[in-house]
Amino acid sequence: METVLIDGKKISDEIKDELKIRVERLRGAGVVPGLAAVLVGDNPASITYVNSKAKACEKIGIYSEVIKKPKEISQKELTAVVRDLNERHEIDGILVQSPLPSHLDEHAVTLLIEPGKDVDGFHPYNVGLTLIGKPSFRSCTPYGIIELMRRYNIDPSGKEVVIVGRSNIVGKPLMAMLIQKQKGANATVTVCHSGTKNIAEICHRADILIAAMGSPAFIKSDMVKDGAVVIDVGINRVEDTGSSKGYKLVGDVDFEECRKKTSFITPVPGGVGPMTIAMLLSNTVLSAENRLKIQP
Ligand code: GUN
Repeated sequence: METVLIDGKKISDEIKDELKIRVERLRGAGVVPGLAAVLVGDNPASITYVNSKAKACEKIGIYSEVIKKPKEISQKELTAVVRDLNERHEIDGILVQSPLPSHLDEHAVTLLIEPGKDVDGFHPYNVGLTLIGKPSFRSCTPYGIIELMRRYNIDPSGKEVVIVGRSNIVGKPLMAMLIQKQKGANATVTVCHSGTKNIAEICHRADILIAAMGSPAFIKSDMVKDGAVVIDVGINRVEDTGSSKGYKLVGDVDFEECRKKTSFITPVPGGVGPMTIAMLLSNTVLSAENRLKIQP
């Protein structure tokens, strides 16, 4: 079986090049798109993510601001930070990097973000619009997966899609996107999770198998149908004494075992990962276009 390795880095670069043109157009009309990222505490992965987001903004001409707060910040103080960002006209997108320290109520913070600036697509208003198939800010990782498939001419219409993982930021919104009676969707979707009894059997039915449960190399080759498309959303840090960092990144799919059976597969890193930031930038540019009321 000839396997195509899906190159998320290449596709995300293409998207960024397209966004750059839209940013120039906005700047020409006097609008500089702006993204504010709120980082609470010193979680190393969160620091890396937020810095990558800020750097990506800078590269395509989006203004970005990282608001760093100590891990002891109170709910009231964090509320004030978000409220202030909601009011600032030059800020088109607001994200609060998760996870937050355990004394903070993350859901309450999400509810505070003005839905028109919710470029993560986490606010229930945007989640609801996604569910009913109306334009909204779509959650970036599932949106990135939809975009990856579109650009590789993988049409989910009429296909059996199996998603493993029911998180609010990947599994559930991806299910909502894929069941729409719309181009690039229209799939029959099954969502597996920790309560599913016959996971291997269900995965084996999939024309398109999407692993998003955060369990290193969980998907083995006997769970994959010959010729399936396999999308790996997992980014797991596992110990690697041979690496200078002391860890390596592995997906939720046993890549070496599974790749031979697939028609298309995403690697980790370099598959879905780079798409999340590209779609965050895309949502931010869209928000700035809404501010100016121009069509993308
Ligand atoms: N933590 C892990 N991924 C994300 C993301 O996409 N957005 C935010 N805000 N936090 C995250």
